Amino acid sequence: MGSMDTPTITENGTTQSHTAAAAADGEQKPLASSNGAPAEMTLESEATKKRRVGMLPLEVGTRVMCRWRDGKYHPVKVIERRKVHYGGPNDYEYYVHYTEFNRRLDEWVKLEQLDLDSVETVVDEKVEDKVTSLKMTRHQKRKIDETHVEGHEELDAASLREHEEFTKVKNIATIELGRYEIETWYFSPFPPEYNDSLKLYFCEFCLNFMKRKEQLQRHMRKCDLKHPPGDEIYRSGTLSMFEVDGKKNKVYGQNLCYLAKLFLDHKTLYYDVDLFLFYVLCECDDRGCHMVGYFSKEKHSEESYNLACILTLPPYQRKGYGKFLIAFSYELSKKEGKVGTPERPLSDLGLLSYRGYWTRVLLDILKKHKGNISIKELSDMTAIKAEDILTTLQSLELIQYRKGQHVICADPKVLDRHLKAAGRGGLEVDVSKLIWTPYKEQN
Ligand code: ACO
Ligand code: ZN
Repeated sequence: MGSMDTPTITENGTTQSHTAAAAADGEQKPLASSNGAPAEMTLESEATKKRRVGMLPLEVGTRVMCRWRDGKYHPVKVIERRKVHYGGPNDYEYYVHYTEFNRRLDEWVKLEQLDLDSVETVVDEKVEDKVTSLKMTRHQKRKIDETHVEGHEELDAASLREHEEFTKVKNIATIELGRYEIETWYFSPFPPEYNDSLKLYFCEFCLNFMKRKEQLQRHMRKCDLKHPPGDEIYRSGTLSMFEVDGKKNKVYGQNLCYLAKLFLDHKTLYYDVDLFLFYVLCECDDRGCHMVGYFSKEKHSEESYNLACILTLPPYQRKGYGKFLIAFSYELSKKEGKVGTPERPLSDLGLLSYRGYWTRVLLDILKKHKGNISIKELSDMTAIKAEDILTTLQSLELIQYRKGQHVICADPKVLDRHLKAAGRGGLEVDVSKLIWTPYKEQN
């Protein structure tokens, strides 16, 4: 399944299943020629045409309706424009953001897809010129990372704008990885020599990336890895987890970050891989262990983060691997005797997956438990941080505030209803198959 078929989440949180409907000639043809039309109509469309030509090329910041892959028109904002090769002076393509959708659906569109009658004349403050010279410092990147909020909408406005300007146009459109060709979702800061390539070829084992298929083929003849570097700490059936120390396998760690950033919006981690461990989930067969997804974890976290970034590669999404990775991160925390929480901000899909995981784990306990139970006890049993338990139960309206205290009110019927709504449980982690000791710095 490619990302084209991935249901998208609109900003109001509802999910829509968009099929890759071929946006064949829609009913509206704003630029259709008026040949054969009555005289006055011809006159009118001549005037309209003039007006339209006058607004071309559209300015960055213009808001207009754009025909999407579902064949319908949706509001967009023009983020960038570029000249069409061998086109006329006004022949541009436009990079647009669909204001109702997540940034992963931003794309280059042709003029024919835009309904020029819907152009809003007020153009946003021109930021283009400032942007071209904008380079983010490490400090600025940190500032974005350290804004601990759920969802992008709560990032402080200035950081968000800066981030979006810096990463506004996707650089790499597709990657080849193992047997998949995958459409990318976001900008990733590959070294400059890769920025003129639309497609990159990854070795699925060492994650080195190349600009040409022949380079990859040559590499595959020499590359002797058949699984991620590092220790296999879990195996159950065909599923394996490898722990990779970013300090011992720096290049692998960096390659993984470049790759992951193509699917993660608000995350920046490219240089400090030394400070992280990477837990790489693989499906294994006789050709080797093929990466499905991963999560990273700081070796020492002052904020009790037990997970920094999590990713399931698009061809493997919606099969329960995300919840497996989340469950795995909490199993590690249990072994460390600590509670943990994911680093913020969470993406839309990250929040959905965590909410689903927390709901299922907590309600399973509440269902079986007899008598009173406190949030602290739930936290001790699950390694889920108390705040996350509280927000989850609050969102399910299972918490009441009585006599200055939060009290869990769990009616079995209500629990069943919520459990049903929380979806499938995902793939189980079989703790008996986990062979692992917490990280210790070796001198
Ligand atoms: N549309 C609607 N709901 C979704 C979608 C989607 N496209 N994807 C996941 N969900 C929800 C569903 O509730 C799903 O449960 P269900 O299938 O039982 O209904 C649940 O999330 C998790 O599904 P899984 O199959 O277990 O998760 P998956 O393997 O798809 O991975 C993940 C989830 C890791 C968030 C994946 O979507 C991903 O890699 N996204 C891109 C990177 C990202 O956003 N990562 C999180 C950033 S936050 C952080 O790193 C701390
Ligand atoms: Zn390799």
